Amino acid sequence: MKILITGANGQLGRELANQYKEIKGIDLILAKREDLDITNVHNVYSFVNEMEPDVIINCAAHTAVDKCETEEDMAYKINAIGPKNLASAANQIGAEIVQVSTDYVFDGNLNKSLTEFDPVNPQTVYGKTKLEGEILVKNHNPKHYIVRTAWLYGDGNNFVKTMINLSKTHKTMKVVNDQKGTPTSTKDLARVIIKLIEDKNYGVFHCTCKGECTWYEFTKEIFRIKGIDTEVSPCTTDEFPRPAKRPEYSVLRNYMLELTTGDITRTWQEAIKEYLE
Ligand SMILES: NC(=O)c1ccc[n+]([C@@H]2O[C@H](COP(=O)([O-])OP(=O)(O)OC[C@H]3O[C@@H](n4cnc5c(N)ncnc54)[C@H](OP(=O)(O)O)[C@@H]3O)[C@@H](O)[C@H]2O)c1
Repeated sequence: MKILITGANGQLGRELANQYKEIKGIDLILAKREDLDITNVHNVYSFVNEMEPDVIINCAAHTAVDKCETEEDMAYKINAIGPKNLASAANQIGAEIVQVSTDYVFDGNLNKSLTEFDPVNPQTVYGKTKLEGEILVKNHNPKHYIVRTAWLYGDGNNFVKTMINLSKTHKTMKVVNDQKGTPTSTKDLARVIIKLIEDKNYGVFHCTCKGECTWYEFTKEIFRIKGIDTEVSPCTTDEFPRPAKRPEYSVLRNYMLELTTGDITRTWQEAIKEYLE
């Protein structure tokens, strides 16, 4: 099977490449941004026609949530039009498409863990563009897997690394304690994506690790495991205003996985422990 990974230099792209390299019979095509800019429709068509993948896994995205507020055109190009180009090019050669999406398609006001059947209502440019990406992929290729994740960390820039770096220069730190979600390792997400493709289990899926916490609780756990003695205290979102409004409660329930192939993700505590050790 031939797999094309776009945005191959990102956190998820790297992890998928690592896991696929261990699987026999996989022909991997790793496309970084400089190899394939997904926003360029002509390049996407010629690349896909030449490479003839069976599956395209789109790991490319404009993931800087706050920047998206002021870079709206760029965000629509990368998060909505790029996925459309890939879905459509894949469809022309009968290939499947995996589009990775986000908990930010929800407003986070329901105060219950969200399933694939709950109503979406994005509140940020990032969330809106990612939702349009989902819709365009669905419309342009029936063989789609749309996988929503959250609070992702792996090989790249992420919250975990930021906190550890900040601890080196700070004796005390305040971290937001009124936003809840689920930290998710790229290892768990990649395993699930590979399984969905193996099973040809098309559709929309939530995929985060199990459990929930606030950013404050997550930071406390990171520092506990690493033995970091920087003092962490809880604060409110209002104390740290950001350009993009964050959902208050965006815990995803992997309901479609539970109902179909089974949920093979770990608890967020198990996953972060392995990552840091
Ligand atoms: N990170 C999170 O917390 C989080 C949470 C929920 C959902 N997600 C979703 O999960 C997926 C993977 O996220 P991630 O954390 O692995 O992202 P990431 O580390 O930011 O990687 C994204 C990659 O996309 C590339 N890219 C940007 N524009 C491109 C373009 N026009 N053409 C081709 N490549 C382009 C970037 O290239 P450069 O390095 O050259 O910029 C980067 O390598 C994304 O769909 C994201 O929306 C992430």
